[in-house]
Amino acid sequence: MRLQTPLCDLLGIDVPIVLAGMGGASHPGLAAAVSNAGGLGVLGAASCGPDELRKWIAETRNLTDRPFGVDTLLPASVRRMPPSVEGPSPADRVPELLEFARAFLEQEGLPSPVPRSAPRSETRRELFSKNFFDEQMECVIEARVPVYASGLGDPGPWIDRLHDAGTTVMAVVGVVRHVSKVKQSGVDVIVAQGHDAGGHNSPIGTLSLVPQVVDAAGDTPVLAAGGIGDGRGVAAAMMLGASGVWVGTAFLGTREANLFDYQKRALVDGSEEGTVISRSVTGKPARLVRNKWAQAWDDAGKQPLPMPFQSIISGPVLQAAIRAERADVYAGFAGQAMGMIREIRPAAAVLEDLVHGAEAALAAAGQHLG
Ligand SMILES: Cc1cc2nc3c(=O)[nH]c(=O)nc-3n(C[C@H](O)[C@H](O)[C@H](O)COP(=O)(O)O)c2cc1C
Repeated sequence: MRLQTPLCDLLGIDVPIVLAGMGGASHPGLAAAVSNAGGLGVLGAASCGPDELRKWIAETRNLTDRPFGVDTLLPASVRRMPPSVEGPSPADRVPELLEFARAFLEQEGLPSPVPRSAPRSETRRELFSKNFFDEQMECVIEARVPVYASGLGDPGPWIDRLHDAGTTVMAVVGVVRHVSKVKQSGVDVIVAQGHDAGGHNSPIGTLSLVPQVVDAAGDTPVLAAGGIGDGRGVAAAMMLGASGVWVGTAFLGTREANLFDYQKRALVDGSEEGTVISRSVTGKPARLVRNKWAQAWDDAGKQPLPMPFQSIISGPVLQAAIRAERADVYAGFAGQAMGMIREIRPAAAVLEDLVHGAEAALAAAGQHLG
């Protein structure tokens, strides 16, 4: 018996396993490997400008002739540096927070790339500006990619043009109340991403979220996400009414994932207790490998700058940690399924295990009926 759902026909894939768009990690090599193995590879293109995005799409098309997708973040997820109603504005807080980052790095014995103050252009910078989103979306539409997924925000304003370009549109939600909005916008597939997941985080556990999103989604297919680390998780997602799965963390433990070796070692060494939710990196709650930067931020009771401006503070810290290969200071985003990564394998082997494990679990499920 083969694992197959109507989603396979909708997307033109063999098995209903989708590589989650993971900024920094889901690069062309990994996306193509998942697509070539029969799933759907999705590029984590959130911070790609148009030139880089065009390059990634071309590279993916060179590596596979199978369907693939592009994932970005959209407005509603991010905002401009807001003026403060009273007290210092977020922009005014930048020097104090940079000082905190510099003192942290010194304490950790790391060379400090932290500037004394952010250049004015930085606090006003155009990353995640309206222009940035527009250029990204023009590029996605022009390239006629098979699948587009919005990781945060609503693809509504672009949906007609995406459909005209032949693109299937997905949107990630973390709470049930966002389902009606993206359904009204006309998305083709909804991703229900629960609390276990790596990256930007939902307050609702996957096991509770998925069936409630499935009920609210009606005839729109749902992918389950968050904590799916092996075939049993895939089978459980099907039992909850999902038509497929959107898997991130399990694919981080692969040769093709675009991570540094020290980050991959941290994933293999980590357990289900080894992640934490913190706003210290992007300004929004995100699940990441437990680390001293997030701990120091929380211990100091610091309020982050709104996304994307928190990266002015966290960027230099991450850079120093990566250069020194200090997993204790920062090792990246990961979900609670990290505890299931035991070795670094080819992505095709991970996908095969997800499929075969799900088939075995689903076949065995009948034995529970008396
Ligand atoms: C390293 C990493 C980076 C991520 N970056 C993004 C991103 O750029 N855009 C996005 O929509 N989701 C991002 N996510 C969330 C994933 O798309 C996905 O929802 C999540 O990984 C699923 O849960 P799992 O990690 O338990 O499989 C990221 C997750 C990880 C682990």
